[in-house]
Amino acid sequence: MYMLFIVADTICALNISVGGGGYVAGSWSSLAPAVQSGYAAVSTDAGHRSNDSGDATSWALVSDGNVNQYLLLDFASRSIHDMTILGKAGCSTGGRQGMMEAQRYPDDYDGIVAAAPAINWNDFTPAQQWPFTVMNNEDYAPPQCEFDAVNAAAIAACDALDGLEDGIIAAPGLCSFDPASLIGNTYSCESDGSQRRFSNKTATVVKKIWQGPVTANGSSAWYGILPGTNFSSLAPTETFGNGTTVPQPFEISDSWYRNFLFKDPNYKTANISYAQFQALTLTSLTRSTTRLWGLADNLIMPNGTMHYYDQVAALDPAVGDFYRVFFTPGVGHCGGGSGPVPVDILMALRRWVENGTAPGLLEAASTYPINGTIRRQNLCPYPSISKYAGYGDPAKAASFACDSSF
Ligand SMILES: *[C@@H]1O[C@H](CO)[C@@H](O)[C@H](O)[C@H]1NC(C)=O
Ligand SMILES: *[C@@H]1O[C@H](CO)[C@@H](O)[C@H](O)[C@H]1NC(C)=O
Ligand SMILES: *[C@@H]1O[C@H](CO)[C@@H](O)[C@H](O)[C@H]1NC(C)=O
Ligand SMILES: *[C@@H]1O[C@H](CO)[C@@H](O)[C@H](O)[C@H]1NC(C)=O
Ligand SMILES: *[C@@H]1O[C@H](CO)[C@@H](O)[C@H](O)[C@H]1NC(C)=O
Ligand SMILES: *[C@@H]1O[C@H](CO)[C@@H](O)[C@H](O)[C@H]1NC(C)=O
Ligand SMILES: *[C@@H]1O[C@H](CO)[C@@H](O)[C@H](O)[C@H]1NC(C)=O
Ligand SMILES: *[C@@H]1O[C@H](CO)[C@@H](O)[C@H](O)[C@H]1NC(C)=O
Ligand SMILES: *[C@@H]1O[C@H](CO)[C@@H](O)[C@H](O)[C@H]1NC(C)=O
Repeated sequence: MYMLFIVADTICALNISVGGGGYVAGSWSSLAPAVQSGYAAVSTDAGHRSNDSGDATSWALVSDGNVNQYLLLDFASRSIHDMTILGKAGCSTGGRQGMMEAQRYPDDYDGIVAAAPAINWNDFTPAQQWPFTVMNNEDYAPPQCEFDAVNAAAIAACDALDGLEDGIIAAPGLCSFDPASLIGNTYSCESDGSQRRFSNKTATVVKKIWQGPVTANGSSAWYGILPGTNFSSLAPTETFGNGTTVPQPFEISDSWYRNFLFKDPNYKTANISYAQFQALTLTSLTRSTTRLWGLADNLIMPNGTMHYYDQVAALDPAVGDFYRVFFTPGVGHCGGGSGPVPVDILMALRRWVENGTAPGLLEAASTYPINGTIRRQNLCPYPSISKYAGYGDPAKAASFACDSSF
């Protein structure tokens, strides 16, 4: 998903700032292309210097049991603001950075592109740990080929619900595929050519992962990943030569649990029960002193972004004047997949900031040829959707129009 913000009105020269991924606050390698395109560019290390995006162990604790609150706050928001103050000296405003900037320091930038924003960190980090907890508690870890086979079945069931069969679930809201319908069916595992059967455990594990974490009374604590989304990032598993498969933790959330919740980098997170998880989720929500927003990069449940937008829209019905969200069906986290991605989002933002032309559509194209052709489709601002007309070349943008529902 891509988000555009406009936060002030004038601009003289562009200053680009580059955010990070996981626990890394900045990206040096992304500076060069920005400079090459004629922009001034800045980035930050948030004071912790570590290049380890998956694990915060090297900086999270002052000593066992004591979180380094200063570095945590730097990571959360302060470093990006400080960087902006420094980076702006001798240059003018404009650029790209996270939602935290828009929310806490709205005058820092004239415009912000937030691609796949890791907003609601305290909510979705426990949710990212959920698949590992499910697999441990259900005592079953599907091999990745089984997860892929479940997704293939979900896509077969739900692909056409948006009016176009293209291997993409573009209308997840209409998809009521139940993995229990697969129990007993066979599938073949490409990696070793074996034929296997879906079990009850497969259905239970997948259903819980899609559902997302629940609180002790069964109400939803956060969202799950949507059907059709590759499981390998948040539900990694390892299959040994003898056929045994074991669950692996997702690095970033596991590090969050060990360092920031248990304050013990060696804590064995595999032993967390459902009941403990529920208590911990509440701890993460309430006890953390710092709300983390605005990392530029992470693995995000799209529903969390809708939820954020809906909250802003409820507070300000004119939300579209300064904040627009574009979902990209069939696209993974920050890219990947066969769906169309924006071709020049920075130019769309400049047109909005410099000339006041808000993006009604975002021109998008697949990153590789689909059936021999680069697929073009314009993205529509949420909550509207880009709908196939029902006729015409599905590789051409003209075959789609914005609509309110499929
Ligand atoms: C992080 O990476 C940058 C760029 O490659 C390098 O200059 C720096 O020394 C690295 N920092 C650490 C702590 O390894
Ligand atoms: C690609 O071609 C196949 C076979 O004709 C078709 O089923 C599929 O829908 C096509 N994909 C797209 C994106 O048009
Ligand atoms: C998540 O988003 C989908 C697609 O818009 C929607 O149908 C579904 O109800 C949402 N799930 C939750 C739990 O809000
Ligand atoms: C699968 O689970 C359902 C409901 O929990 C149960 O009724 C059924 O007997 C189970 N099937 C097998 C093969 O264990
Ligand atoms: C369930 O618990 C959550 C917090 O743990 C609370 O917000 C919610 O209202 C409860 N729901 C019901 C139906 O009791
Ligand atoms: C899911 O992602 C993994 C890791 O990138 C990849 O090996 C696998 O092929 C993907 N599955 C599908 C169905 O694309
Ligand atoms: C399979 O191999 C793994 C890794 O070597 C080992 O830990 C596990 O005990 C083995 N399982 C069985 C059933 O032999
Ligand atoms: C964690 O679980 C494993 C396997 O059930 C068990 O052997 C180990 O003692 C447990 N560790 C702790 C600290 O509870
Ligand atoms: C803004 O409008 C002017 C005048 O039409 C044009 O020259 C300029 O290229 C536009 N800027 C952008 C970023 O589109």
